[in-house]
Amino acid sequence: MPGGQLYDTIGATYTMTRRTEPRIAARIWAALGDARTVLNVGAGAGSYEPPDRDVTAVEPSPVMRAQRPAGAAACVAAAAENLPFEDQSFDAAMAVSTVHHWQDPVAGLREMRRVARRVVVFTYDDSDTGWWRRFWLTRDYLPEVADLLAGRPSLAEQARAIGARTEPVPIPWDCADGFFEAYWRRPGAYLDDQVRRGVSVWARVGPQAERRAVRSLRADLASGRWAERNRDLVALDAAELGLRLLVT
Ligand SMILES: C[S@@+](CC[C@H](N)C(=O)[O-])C[C@H]1O[C@@H](n2cnc3c(N)ncnc32)[C@H](O)[C@@H]1O
Repeated sequence: MPGGQLYDTIGATYTMTRRTEPRIAARIWAALGDARTVLNVGAGAGSYEPPDRDVTAVEPSPVMRAQRPAGAAACVAAAAENLPFEDQSFDAAMAVSTVHHWQDPVAGLREMRRVARRVVVFTYDDSDTGWWRRFWLTRDYLPEVADLLAGRPSLAEQARAIGARTEPVPIPWDCADGFFEAYWRRPGAYLDDQVRRGVSVWARVGPQAERRAVRSLRADLASGRWAERNRDLVALDAAELGLRLLVT
């Protein structure tokens, strides 16, 4: 299912758990440099849009566009792979937690490069084959996540397509944006249906895998097995789980 259509199905409660995380926003906004005009591609409900610049948003899903707050930047119904703008018409283009949903990520990234002088993308690196073992949730409960990425271009291929450098983005332990890895030090959050509904991974692995993972995590939290296995995490304030900025 194309990413925009997926969000028409799963996106209705997005803003209950997904919002701007200020420490990640600071990294994105710094990478935008002195850009005055900014295009936000796959903009969703408007998280991470800088308040002090002239922002135009692009979002294919009407369900997501409907959740943009009053006063948010103007939003165009379009997809990354075919941006309805002239060459170099923005100082910068940004994309946050969206590239993995695009039908053709490399085409979309090239479009961003075409319409803007600078590109900033917040995404993740799954290039080392054991990446899914980095995070206890995928390693111990939801290995199916590895199958979702088959055939996707690697982070290196994406970076090469637009001549970007990559920068690691650690996830704070109390991350305000409830994306998939956000609760790495708050495992009980994954038992909450509302938390899971804000993350497409759970819809994409299907109800059977979701039920099994939740049942198994609940049992391990009750027995102390999770705490035993992950005792090193409790002392960390931020975790490196493969999240990256691509910056041109
Ligand atoms: C996880 S949400 C991220 C939204 C927002 N950037 C944020 O940080 O909250 C992913 C968004 O990508 C959008 N999307 C999916 N396919 C797309 C495409 N081909 N081009 C642009 N956006 C797309 C979805 O509709 C959805 O709103």
